[in-house]
Amino acid sequence: MYKNIGKMILVTGAAGFVGSHLSEKLLSMGHDVISIDNFNDYYDPKLKEKNLKSIEKVALDNNVIFKMYKGDIRDSDLIDKVFKENAQISSIVSLAANAGVRPSIENPNYYVDVNLVGLTNLLEIAKNCKIKNFVFISSSSVYGNNKKVPFSEKDSVDEPISPYAATKKAGELLCYTYHHLFKMNIACLRYFTVYGPRQRPDLAINKFTKLMIDKKPIPMYGDGSTARDYTFVSDIVEGTLLALDYVSQKNKEIFDIFNLGGSNPITLLDLINEIGEKLNIKPLINQLPMQPGDVNITYSDYSHAKKTLGYNPKVKIDAGIAKFVKWYIEENM
Ligand SMILES: NC(=O)c1ccc[n+]([C@@H]2O[C@H](COP(=O)([O-])OP(=O)(O)OC[C@H]3O[C@@H](n4cnc5c(N)ncnc54)[C@H](O)[C@@H]3O)[C@@H](O)[C@H]2O)c1
Repeated sequence: MYKNIGKMILVTGAAGFVGSHLSEKLLSMGHDVISIDNFNDYYDPKLKEKNLKSIEKVALDNNVIFKMYKGDIRDSDLIDKVFKENAQISSIVSLAANAGVRPSIENPNYYVDVNLVGLTNLLEIAKNCKIKNFVFISSSSVYGNNKKVPFSEKDSVDEPISPYAATKKAGELLCYTYHHLFKMNIACLRYFTVYGPRQRPDLAINKFTKLMIDKKPIPMYGDGSTARDYTFVSDIVEGTLLALDYVSQKNKEIFDIFNLGGSNPITLLDLINEIGEKLNIKPLINQLPMQPGDVNITYSDYSHAKKTLGYNPKVKIDAGIAKFVKWYIEENM
């Protein structure tokens, strides 16, 4: 299915939520995975250590190479060392970043530093090592408060409403520049809120599940009518692999941007009730004012990814929340 992907892939941020799933999938398909992750404390690093153990087991079971370099993508000496020690790396998936919208308003310099200096280090090493295949993980947040729904890659993304979103848009621009100057094949993937087992604890579905089980009220920002287009992690992994396969084609010059979403937004209130139903708990709600940086709706038009990559998300929100809740209970209770 993914006939162009090379043997050894660098996946930055593999200890994190999406990175751990992507790495396990690549390893189970017989690829070698190298990663750089600094195990920062944006959320409990023990969760990242747990993800690491699970990835190492998949590598062992499939008799393939997995190496984790614990360090920072801003450290260009480390990056040089990684590529010297693993000269067979044929492609890069750039996932490591500071995620999270609200904290980026408190600490914009840090977001610019990691998300852009770190990305530039990876683009530079790709250029220097003549690695042509590059996938950059962007975000639906680049659309800001786009009035038109669903969001299309053709829509303007000139008005991001948080520093996080601005770094993702700037990242896409940097990617274009490296494609233009050095003929690198690059896909920028705008993920729409990803959920599933191992989801970051700061994200709504994970946070709400914990609060409901602890019998605590859920802080609901706004009147519950804001909506998000949730994408189950296995669909995101598949879309990312399809994009990696696409940029890994020989004798083609590629720069492209793809929405990876589910095209099925759910309101905040319906989401809370859906989780409550799966847990068999009546949610307690504490309504609060909307937060700066939060957008009203995300809603993907993924027809471009469908047509070009064959992306076809399968997991509906109802089934996805059931899977998440089952995982959460197994892990925590
Ligand atoms: N989860 C979502 O809903 C979502 C939506 C849109 C875009 N994204 C993007 O997808 C990517 C992965 O997100 P995630 O939810 O898995 O987040 P995550 O925080 O679980 O994973 C990111 C990983 O990168 C690592 N990292 C962060 N800064 C680093 C640095 N300076 N050097 C090395 N490693 C570093 C972290 O330790 C972490 O393990 C991010 O780029 C994020 O912006 C995620």
